[in-house]
Parts: sequence; structure tokens; C-alpha cells
Amino acid sequence: MSKPTKQQSLLDKITAACKRRGFIFPSSEIYGGINGFWDFGPAGAQLKRNIRDYWWDTLVRNGHKGPDGEKFDIVGLDASIIMSNKVWEASGHTTSFSDPMVDCRKCKQRFRADLLPDTKCPEGGDHDYTEVRDFNLMFKTNVGPVEDGSSIAYLRPETAQAIFVQYQNVLTVTRTKVPFGIAQIGKAFRNEINPRNFIFRSREFEQMEMEFFIKPGTEDVWHHWWLEKRLNWYVQMGIVRDNLSVEWHPQDKLAHYAKSCVDIMFDFPFGVQELEGIAFRTDYDLRQHAEHSKKISLYFDTETNERYHPYVIEPSAGLDRTVLAILCDAYREEILTDSKGNQDVRTVFRFHPRIAPVTVAVFPLLRNRPELVDKAERVFGLLQPHFRVQWDDRGNIGKRYRYQDELGTPYCVTIDFDTIGAGEHPEQKETVTVRDRDTMEQIRCPIDELVGYLKERVLF
Ligand code: GAP
Repeated sequence: MSKPTKQQSLLDKITAACKRRGFIFPSSEIYGGINGFWDFGPAGAQLKRNIRDYWWDTLVRNGHKGPDGEKFDIVGLDASIIMSNKVWEASGHTTSFSDPMVDCRKCKQRFRADLLPDTKCPEGGDHDYTEVRDFNLMFKTNVGPVEDGSSIAYLRPETAQAIFVQYQNVLTVTRTKVPFGIAQIGKAFRNEINPRNFIFRSREFEQMEMEFFIKPGTEDVWHHWWLEKRLNWYVQMGIVRDNLSVEWHPQDKLAHYAKSCVDIMFDFPFGVQELEGIAFRTDYDLRQHAEHSKKISLYFDTETNERYHPYVIEPSAGLDRTVLAILCDAYREEILTDSKGNQDVRTVFRFHPRIAPVTVAVFPLLRNRPELVDKAERVFGLLQPHFRVQWDDRGNIGKRYRYQDELGTPYCVTIDFDTIGAGEHPEQKETVTVRDRDTMEQIRCPIDELVGYLKERVLF
């Protein structure tokens, strides 16, 4: 059982499996779609929610312990998507949040100048590019009934700014001390010139960002510490460590707010690409907002009697990109050979049980035998308070296993005639078959031990 070879067609296969099993659909598909936008179906919405919750639960809590064992807190925020334009002027996004862009004079297509395609122009020959221009990525809209210059507003291109804007309020109400963090999960919008690679680069996506406020001078220690923590977080969700790597940005490639930045990279089918950026933003944002709003004061450090704006380390992850990394990491095509030598391909998402959309599927062997269905319903009810459970009574058991494999369900439980004491093995009364997704092994488990058996394996 090996991983498929790296190729773009692998991404096509994953995209197809995602559609087939209800993870991800193209947005507005019945009207021909809209480039750069995606919808998460039943399985995808659950997978995304599980990852989102895991991020929140890992980060937003009291009593974290830092590199020297010192305690610190991270608190949450859920801010509005549209904010005052003054936020984006102060943060520098109005002037600096842009990508270099060129147009082809022949085919009229627009490209990012740093990501030019290696394909020919559809009008023939090479593309005929214009000069490079800057293209601001923020989506514009109008607030209120009048559409003039004064009503223009932007959809936020990152969730981070709201954290800086609410920093003073949060500090006041929590009475917390440096170091501390403010975390937020939410939608961000960028009018990307070339959305591409399935959900990797889209125009509407979700970010999971945390601004971690520290004493100036401690940034090196915290930057490396957060890098390790964030790498571990992906591994704890089941991502193979070898598929992750780390890339420090060269000084000339830094965003306008960052003094240094390190990316956590993932080995996607289309190449090694950024999954999360961890930036050292200095006190740039607090200084900017203090200057523009006159409402943010210097932090008073009661231990040293100093006044300063805290420095910031920012782990900034893309939720959709994490979903894609998890899908790519978990996807397998396995060749199975039966006892007669016939071969078949099994497609499976080997999700970690912590994030799998369904943890356990429950099958009555036959849907038209009330005694099996009744018993299966009772087992279903027993499991439901503890796990994400799905009922499946369609088709033969083999087909149900394959369906659940493609959904990434770690365990399937079958209720058969032995369970109800009407089979060939009377000693198996009140037991069920538990089938493991990865090994495909099946064991008999007493019903009254089933919750414990599964809990031990799914590590909640
Ligand atoms: N606040 C810092 C910030 O926004 P970024 O590197 O521009 O930094 C952070 O974005 C993360 O957001 C990226 O590492 C990526 O996971 C995700 N992201 C950025 N643009 C994206 C897009 N167009 N589509 C999907 N995810 C995106």
C-alpha cells in the first residue's frame, strides 16, 4: 500500500472523490460555477468544522505554558468582516496589499506577473504581455443605500486587523498581561488574479489567526517556539511529518508588515506550497493603529515599569488550505486482490479519527429484517452520544465498506444474525462485527464493551 505518485492528475482524482462523497462542490455549479469559490458539502462541512474546532480548542484556553514554563492565556474574538476604511488605511492594505499583474494583449487574460503560465497563448504563439502593474486584492463594496466614494468599504483580506483594532478593549476586559494571545477564525476575501489548484488559492476562504503579544526582545524565542507548536498541531491531526517542511522568507520577500516570517509548507500534488505563515510583525500594527486612531495606549509592564507597544508573533493558517492538505495526505488508492486473484482498487481517505467526518458507521446486515434493524437502531443510539455516527443500510456490506472508506470513516459496525442469537454462532449473541478502515480487519466485540473499544481507538 503505497502513496500514489505525485502528479497533477492526483489532484484531479482527489477533486473527483471530493465531489462524489460530498466534501466539496464548485460554487453555483448549476449556473456554470464561479471561479475561485467553493462550497463544502455534508462531509466537507463536518471535516472543516472538526479542524476549525480542533484549532480553537488547542489555542483558546487559559494556562498555556511557554518556553520557560511561564503561564499565559489566549482569548478568542469574533469580529465583523466589514470594518471602517480607516482600518485598512492605517494597516497599509489600501496602498500595499497588491500583487503584480500583467495582461496578455492578444487573449486578454490577466496573470500574476510572478506566476506566469508556461502555456502558449490561445490566440496563437507566445502571450504578449503588458507592463507589470499593481493590482489591489481587496474586494470593494458599498455600505448603505448610496453608492458613491464615501460609501466604499472592503471585505477584510485577513482576519488579523480586527484583533489589533480590538486589542485595547480585550486588554481592558481580560486584565491579562504580556505575553498573551488573541485568536480569531473567520472568512477572508481576496480578489486573487489567478485562483487555482482546487481550494488552495480561492477568492473567499477562512483563516485561523492568532496574534501573540510579547515583550520586545523576546521575539526570537517565541517565533521558534510557535513554529514547533504549529508543526505539531498538524502532526496531531494525522499529517505525515515528512510531508511538512519549513521555509524562512528571504528579507526581500517579506510582506509590508513583517520583519521576519517562516512558512509551514506542505507537499501538495502540485508541489511544495505554503500552508501557514508565522510572521514576526514587530509592533507595526499597534503603532499604526495607535497613531491613526489615537485610542491605543502604550502597554505598562508592571514587572519592569516600562511602557511599550508589545511585539507580535502571528501564526496565520488557512482553514481551506488545511482541509486540502488533510485530503491530500489521507488519500490512498490501494490495489486489493481477492482469493481468486481478481484485483480491484479501493479508494480511501485515511483521516485521523479526531477529524474524520464520521467516526463510526452502523449497518444492519439486511434492511428488510425488523429484528436486525431494531437491534442496529439500539446500537446506533448507544454510540450516538459519544461519536459522529452514520446509519447505512443500502446495498451489500462490501459496498457499504467501500462507501465509508471513501468517506474516511475509521470504523464500521455490523449487526448480523449472530448478534441477535439467530446465527450459526450462538456464543456470539450480543456481539457485533467491528471493521477497521485501515487494516480492513474485522473483530467481534460485545455490545456492552463497544463504546469503550471505540473510544480507546479514536483518542478523544
Ligand atoms: N495575517 C497574515 C496573513 O494573512 P497570508 O500569508 O497572506 O498572511 C495566511 O495568509 C494564510 O491564509 C496562508 O498561509 C494560507 O493558508 C491562507 N490563504 C491566504 N490566501 C489564500 C487564498 N487565496 N486561498 C486560500 N487560502 C489562503
